[in-house]
Amino acid sequence: MEKLTALCKRRGFIFPGSEIYGGLANTYDYGPLGTELLRNIKNLWWKNFVQERSDIVGLDAGIISHHRIWEASGHVAGFADAMIDCKNCKARMRADHLIENYFSGKGEDRKVEGLSLEELEKIVQENKIPCPNCGKQEWTKVRKFNLLFPVQLGIVEGEGGQGYLRGETAQGMFTNFKNIVDSSRVRLPFGIAQIGKGFRNEITPGQLVFRTIEFELAEVEYFFDPEKEKWEELFEDWKKEMWNFVTKGLGIKEESLRWREHDEKERSFYSKKTEDLEYNFPFGFKELWGLAYRTDYDLLKHTEFSKKDLSIVDPQTNKKIVPHVIEPAVGINRLLLMTLLDSYAEDGERVILKLDPKLAPYKVAVFPLLANKENLVEEARKIYESLKKEMMVSWDDRGNIGKRYFAQDEAGTPFCVTVDFQTLEDKTVTVRDRDSAKQDRIAIDKLQEYLKAKIV
Ligand code: GAP
Repeated sequence: MEKLTALCKRRGFIFPGSEIYGGLANTYDYGPLGTELLRNIKNLWWKNFVQERSDIVGLDAGIISHHRIWEASGHVAGFADAMIDCKNCKARMRADHLIENYFSGKGEDRKVEGLSLEELEKIVQENKIPCPNCGKQEWTKVRKFNLLFPVQLGIVEGEGGQGYLRGETAQGMFTNFKNIVDSSRVRLPFGIAQIGKGFRNEITPGQLVFRTIEFELAEVEYFFDPEKEKWEELFEDWKKEMWNFVTKGLGIKEESLRWREHDEKERSFYSKKTEDLEYNFPFGFKELWGLAYRTDYDLLKHTEFSKKDLSIVDPQTNKKIVPHVIEPAVGINRLLLMTLLDSYAEDGERVILKLDPKLAPYKVAVFPLLANKENLVEEARKIYESLKKEMMVSWDDRGNIGKRYFAQDEAGTPFCVTVDFQTLEDKTVTVRDRDSAKQDRIAIDKLQEYLKAKIV
């Protein structure tokens, strides 16, 4: 993690948030390379789960939403973390994380999410767990903190009342359910997909972007008639979809992944069954992507709170149905962190990000062999400009070629094109492959085709 964090800062993937003002805990900004990588992951997710499917449509709901939505969903009452404070050094942390990290330090994999405040407190006391920050054992009681961010609406204080920054994108899919049914040709079973920011006022243990207070969610609410569809089968279908996306789409090694089912205590209040696809992060197997069977909980709650009928009519039987829902929900930033970790490799001094070419921020870098030879620079510039119309291209004419290759390897750029003296004679360039470091001689007029075939 330390090496990756340093690389992210050095190369412009991820910066600490509000850094010039001393930083703001649990926030990060994405630099030029991180922005491209995030975008490529989001586009791939969208292509896979919306564009290539005929049963899923997209939505882009607002981030600020009515407080009644979050009262209906149960988040105002129930979306809270159990926190504990060290009286000595004032460090505040999640009680479940304190306990899990303590036991994982002893080689034990113990999950305690979902235990009551009293149960958590008992474990901390009985095991005499010390503060990881100062080593003392002077804890406050375990207390609940709600994760939703309230926002004050209206120019005059108190005028517009209170809204919330959304804690999940899912609620937008439920509150717009009727709008989508009435405005498009969807038929059960069908899904609504959304990618967008979510906000949770949580304390995080500083594992880069693994857990932040602002993050990007990619969620599908897959609606179905429980009398026509078996939820167990849909659940299994979604498990396969998620697994394939991570292994084939993002190129992650299968041995770094596993499924873990939540027991009754850990499961969210809205879910009848939840399984997490977990990735083996440097700090252990952790949730990457959750899959939950939310039943008709949310549509019924919104019907009750809004007094609007959110049922739909089956065109064959004329029967009213409140659909049930299966929800795969993943954080794009967590996918990004996993992708970076999984692609990180070292070869002596050389650091290489072996990103799948379709995810790489820059697909190709173009260099003139020497920066002070005008005819080389001119030819390289022409290639750069023409490739730029088709893909993300980086330009570099500083230092020697070896250093430029090193820099591109760290950025994960799969191909480097060098214009040299031979280019001026026979209109060919060298194309160097990031992973094998092998070089091919390719005609300029075949270059685009050659690269496109390798980066899809
Ligand atoms: N609608 C269901 C829902 O939001 P969740 O398990 O709370 O479920 C879904 O979150 C996914 O979002 C997680 O599997 C994780 O990938 C990501 N995620 C959750 N909290 C996060 C945070 N604070 N920072 C970054 N990613 C987060």
